[in-house]
Amino acid sequence: MTRPPHLAPATVWGLCIPAALLLGLCYLYACTRRPHEPVQPLPFSHATHTAAGGTAMDCRACHAAAHHARGAGLPAAATCLDCHRHILADDARLLPLHAAANPDHPAHTAEPLRWVRKAPLPPYIDFHHGQHTAAGHTCAECHTDPDRQPAHTMSSCLDCHRTRAVPTNCDRCHR
Ligand code: HEC
Ligand code: HEC
Ligand code: HEC
Ligand code: HEC
Ligand code: HEC
Repeated sequence: MTRPPHLAPATVWGLCIPAALLLGLCYLYACTRRPHEPVQPLPFSHATHTAAGGTAMDCRACHAAAHHARGAGLPAAATCLDCHRHILADDARLLPLHAAANPDHPAHTAEPLRWVRKAPLPPYIDFHHGQHTAAGHTCAECHTDPDRQPAHTMSSCLDCHRTRAVPTNCDRCHR
């Protein structure tokens, strides 16, 4: 018995379509997850929280220290719970938040949220947020899209320092 000829194209498509899907997935994984987008404890999105028309939160609500201190700081889980006790209260994406800071929730374990920094400076660099915000710089000048924060480079510092006539001797920034 020979195989009916019309099965051949079906077999070819049966192989091609899954192969194409697999390639597509590999492409999505390799090309859209960039190295500065680490896996976070939960899928927090700045876009959702700061967009006008959404919650329109000010950066200061979660990073108040950026206006006076060296580091901008990351928010405590309690800040998130102010809203998420009520908003999306039963959403599975928020379980790590309830686990961290909501003793009234069955999932509570007190395991803190460990956010992963996307663009830390090397430890030998001296950068102080307060100096920059006091000089009138807005968050957006250095953080256009905090969900995809690219690395801060030496030239990104120098380009601005030169235009503002801030001295650029090496030891101003290098300790
Ligand atoms: C609801 C609280 C909240 C608000 C409002 C908020 N952030 Fe964040 N921000 C976070 C959390 C949580 C992280 C850690 C997770 C992450 O990196 O996305 C973070 C991380 C960051 C980082 C990461 C830097 C790094 O190197 O990892 C930057 C930059 C940042 N925020 C800037 C901003 C700016 C600018 C605004 C205002 C437009 C803002 N944030 C508003 C909660 C907030
Ligand atoms: C001022 C209130 C408020 C605060 C504070 C807040 N959120 Fe939200 N959050 C919202 C609203 C509103 C939504 C969108 C709800 C919806 O989709 O219906 C949301 C959505 C989310 C989502 C679902 C994914 C998405 O982007 O829509 C996650 C995850 C989340 N928030 C995490 C956090 C974390 C973590 C914090 C603290 C760093 C936080 N939220 C602080 C109001 C808040
Ligand atoms: C002149 C540029 C500049 C401005 C203006 C600026 N930042 Fe940053 N920000 C940086 C740099 C550089 C880092 C990395 C610092 C490090 O790793 O030591 C950073 C880091 C951060 C981080 C990561 C956590 C941390 O503690 O450092 C957050 C959050 C952040 N900035 C929020 C803000 C917010 C909110 C504003 C506005 C109030 C702001 N930044 C203004 C340059 C800037
Ligand atoms: C958007 C413009 C801008 C960017 C980007 C910027 N700076 Fe600055 N920086 C300033 C201004 C303006 C001052 C002067 C503030 C003052 O005189 O109080 C300053 C001051 C400083 C000082 C204090 C210098 C002194 O001699 O007192 C240091 C250190 C510094 N910046 C480091 C950095 C580093 C590191 C980066 C990059 C990661 C950076 N800055 C990026 C604008 C910028
Ligand atoms: C305005 C701040 C600033 C000044 C002034 C500055 N640097 Fe830097 N430098 C940085 C930052 C920020 C980095 C880290 C960049 C990174 O991680 O890619 C850096 C990194 C470097 C590196 C390491 C580069 C690498 O690829 O690892 C060298 C070398 C260096 N700087 C030399 C110098 C010398 C020499 C001077 C003086 C002529 C100088 N820098 C002045 C901010 C500065």
